[in-house]
Amino acid sequence: MGAVKIGILGLGTVGSGVAEILLRNKKSINQKAGSRIELTKVLDKDLTRNRSVDIPAEIMTDRPEEVLGNSEIDIIVELIGGVNPTKEFVKQALEARKHVVTANKELIAKYGDELFDLAAKRGVDLHFEASVGGGIPIIKSLQESLTANQIEEVIGIVNGTTNYILTKMTEKEAKFEEVLAEAQQAGYAEADPTADIEGYDAAYKLSILSNIAFTGLVDVNDIYREGISQITQKDITYAQQLGYVIKLLAISKEVEGQIEARVHPTMLPKDHPLAQVKEAFNAVLVRGDAVGELLYYGQGAGSLPTGSAVVADVIDIIRNINYKAVNRVAANNYKEKIVKRHNEVVSKYYIRLQVENGHGDLAKTFRILENNNIGIKRVIEPEKTDEPVNLILLTRQVVEENLQRALGEVKKLREIKEISNLIRVET
Ligand code: HSE
Repeated sequence: MGAVKIGILGLGTVGSGVAEILLRNKKSINQKAGSRIELTKVLDKDLTRNRSVDIPAEIMTDRPEEVLGNSEIDIIVELIGGVNPTKEFVKQALEARKHVVTANKELIAKYGDELFDLAAKRGVDLHFEASVGGGIPIIKSLQESLTANQIEEVIGIVNGTTNYILTKMTEKEAKFEEVLAEAQQAGYAEADPTADIEGYDAAYKLSILSNIAFTGLVDVNDIYREGISQITQKDITYAQQLGYVIKLLAISKEVEGQIEARVHPTMLPKDHPLAQVKEAFNAVLVRGDAVGELLYYGQGAGSLPTGSAVVADVIDIIRNINYKAVNRVAANNYKEKIVKRHNEVVSKYYIRLQVENGHGDLAKTFRILENNNIGIKRVIEPEKTDEPVNLILLTRQVVEENLQRALGEVKKLREIKEISNLIRVET
């Protein structure tokens, strides 16, 4: 059995998981790969920190060039994250005809097309299964197992941190900040939690999924994005009263040749399959015209689950090398597709308004909504004793633009103190 040499960039949470899996399942991994995998060099910025895995000191380095410039290394595993200096490291590796495995969603979402082109030109593979859904094999499923289908929609809970926070806020009525600290301690959250909380992480993942599902080129900047920082205990309580739970969803659909791609908190009926996804778990629901509905569920973050996806990519590449089938699954055959303007998107809404105590005359509010084609399905009238006084409206399917126009007018009414929240509802 010949040896294939691996270099790892970054020995944090995922890097340690990768090293542990390679050690733990060495025999079966080598057998499946058809080659002996040799961990040749590992880059870490801090060589003194305690780690969960034992790595011989002589293969550790804090100098990237010792990994990237090592001519014996066949596959670089990039687990640093972010785009700086990672993009340059990956380009350097590909230029040197090294295959690359990455878990880096931001890098693939922003620069995937450029990097896939480079990999194809240099005749090497660039695999990225771990970039979406951690241990869930969603990329391979879309790229290989579902190619017979026209994919109609992909709806996912793809950020573990926010799902964990929303679950705890719902089940334990816990405070946002406390739960965020727990998620960070458990190793789910990004170093800068803004990427999780404000939906950037989910938008990167949605852009990757949309490109593969719809063979599109969905610019991450064209994805409508809202995070969970505006969700209050009050909204969670009202959602429960209405039979819903709140989840941060990443939604993309192809409608009449246009792609609708959005990340936002969403109210889901309690019996919806995605409503059952709790804690830091992820799930992706895919609908294909031939296969129907599929649901992928599992751990979307963490050391070993993400490591599982990374090591499987390494094995895949070694198989490709051994059977001279590199670049077998092209990832650069996408076409520019139009992303639907967010103003044109149609959805149902939960609206929480604060109205004047004694709540005056709401007839004007309802008239404005009606004039703008906003059908109201349900109203929860405020208790007169409540302070502040909340009025809850559930709309029928409405066009975003009409709703925004109506709310702009409603906001000016004397009896409306504020529009406190607006959450989309999926059924
Ligand atoms: N911060 C990410 C999450 C890690 O919470 O899902 C996995 O990509």
